[in-house]
Amino acid sequence: MKILHISDLHFGYHDEHLIQNFKKFTRIENPDLIIITGDLTHRAKTDQFEDAKEFIKDLPCKTLCIPGNHDVPLYRVDKRLFSPFSKYKNIMNLPKEISFENDLVNLIGLNSVNPRSVKKGKLTSLQLERIDNYFSNENKWNILMFHHNISKIEDLHNPLHSSKDLIEIAKDRPIHIICTGHLHYSHVTPIDEKFPIIAHAGSLSCKRKNDNYNSFFSFDVDLKNLKITKHIYKEDNFIKDAYWEFSK
Ligand SMILES: [Fe+2]
Repeated sequence: MKILHISDLHFGYHDEHLIQNFKKFTRIENPDLIIITGDLTHRAKTDQFEDAKEFIKDLPCKTLCIPGNHDVPLYRVDKRLFSPFSKYKNIMNLPKEISFENDLVNLIGLNSVNPRSVKKGKLTSLQLERIDNYFSNENKWNILMFHHNISKIEDLHNPLHSSKDLIEIAKDRPIHIICTGHLHYSHVTPIDEKFPIIAHAGSLSCKRKNDNYNSFFSFDVDLKNLKITKHIYKEDNFIKDAYWEFSK
């Protein structure tokens, strides 16, 4: 099974050339699933959500998406506090949290956006409880996804509130991959010696990058093996840049 993990598209402050190239990549590679860890838009505006919706509609397989902090209004504080996700829900027609299961994969996507904070994310005690209860079957690849980073990467934003509690839960549960975004800085590392692996995706298409390249991950999974490939945008194409392999 091939899964693509993309993040931080930032429609409204994006490079359309990369969007078209990624769509071309999906038609050639034919993934089974694409997961998107938030920031579909740059400023949560109607036309930006409409562009994001059109992009998702054009993808050749099932997509799973959760919101990022840029998907709630920034300057319209009343809207940010009282109806932060109205455009995300009404235009995209997407729930804020999702789950998915098939023979190989068991996945939940949670909403880590805290509308009271511009950048810093949060997982509530209820969400942590859900994570604690959700993953039990070690035979599947258990994937948790949300927007904000759970570890400090370079000198970028601090980890989300409750990251320490999450890491403690993750050590006791068969969670294999934690997919995040937010920093526009691609990073793959195990939390402990092996699982869970943090797959922190760079930005697919935003003009602002903190690690020089727009990028995304592909995960190839079978019953025992997980192969992660990082693709970066260089010289008008997405090319393979780095590779990791993990086994159960
Ligand atoms: Fe972002």
